[in-house]
Amino acid sequence: MQTDFCKQLGLEVPIFAFTHCRDVVVAVSKAGGIGVLGAVGFSPERLKEELDWIDEHIGAHIYGVDTAIPQKYEGMDKNTPEELVAMLEAAIPQQHRDFANKLMSDAGVPEWPDKDDEISLSFSAVQAQALVDIALTRPKCRMIVNALGTPPADIVKQVQDSGRLIGALAGRLKHGLAHKEAGLDFVVCQGSEGGGHAGEVTSMILWPQMVDAVAPLPVLAAGGIGNGRQILAAMSTGAGGVWMGSAWLNSEEANAEPAQRDSYMSATSEDTVRSRSFTGKTARMLKNEWTEAWERDDTPDPLPMPLQGYLTFDAVRRSHRYAGSGECQKVAFNPVGQVVGQINSVESCRDIMFGLLTEYSEALDHINAITPQ
Ligand SMILES: Cc1cc2nc3c(=O)[nH]c(=O)nc-3n(C[C@H](O)[C@H](O)[C@H](O)COP(=O)(O)O)c2cc1C
Repeated sequence: MQTDFCKQLGLEVPIFAFTHCRDVVVAVSKAGGIGVLGAVGFSPERLKEELDWIDEHIGAHIYGVDTAIPQKYEGMDKNTPEELVAMLEAAIPQQHRDFANKLMSDAGVPEWPDKDDEISLSFSAVQAQALVDIALTRPKCRMIVNALGTPPADIVKQVQDSGRLIGALAGRLKHGLAHKEAGLDFVVCQGSEGGGHAGEVTSMILWPQMVDAVAPLPVLAAGGIGNGRQILAAMSTGAGGVWMGSAWLNSEEANAEPAQRDSYMSATSEDTVRSRSFTGKTARMLKNEWTEAWERDDTPDPLPMPLQGYLTFDAVRRSHRYAGSGECQKVAFNPVGQVVGQINSVESCRDIMFGLLTEYSEALDHINAITPQ
């Protein structure tokens, strides 16, 4: 499975692991693929700490960093964190704040213990620029990837001038074409079944259309890949590699609480939903009382990005810290794709990689066996 893109990056196999956990980044890169650290939600200080750890543990291997700058968002004209915060504070109705707080307290999730003024400016260029600046000081960070839109032209230039690659996620053909037009180096094409922000068209329809539409740019197939047979299907569409997110969430290295692991292992592929209730844009996650509550006619509608993410920041951090408290899993934010129905055990990333490649080879043998020579 040595694609040109894989050779360009010097990888053994074109398996790209999106993850928020530094241990997963290191484990996948050491196993021959490449880990890409999701930095959305990290402060610049936190990103520095995570990258220090990765640089120290990854040896001679390489990694990537992922940011999320939406194409359009409320407050795009605000150039400083202070201005953006003032706009967000003023724009969030009290009714929304009360509703979110009540859902958390009804589920028995404790308040955040420390009096802090930590806020999240995730999903804004204000935050992302600082994160990109830090990533580009790290020689082993060889790629920047952006979610939710084509990155601004100055960031594209900054990354490429530094000798690194820049790509972006696309859930619709027109987004892939916009990435190509902006001169990006590759496109991550995510179908609807994937975890996190996802569009409406399924992977099996979208991947080959994207490969044709943005050629000769390499396309990484994402959304619904959790085993070797799915890798073979993705590669058969002409993809330059596979980009997987959900498959690592329950790995040994993942930073997941036992209650969260139980939620993944007991869920079937029918237990996810695309919901705007956490970030303001449709993202696939485990269905629960929180996602259902925001859908009802008698409750507030989710706000647009980045307002809803700013509003739910406290709920998200409480739901992770207190994952096992009260009935927290009923209101927790658990983004995951439909491959969650295939997650039935806890394995190391190395074993997951080995299993993927073994099954890929067996599936290839099967195709060869049924194809007359
Ligand atoms: C927990 C979780 C969080 C995610 N957050 C981001 C993100 O911050 N940035 C991003 O580019 N993609 C994000 N994604 C999407 C992944 O990059 C990837 O495209 C997706 O997981 C692929 O589909 P799969 O879940 O079926 O493997 C997230 C996915 C998951 C499961």
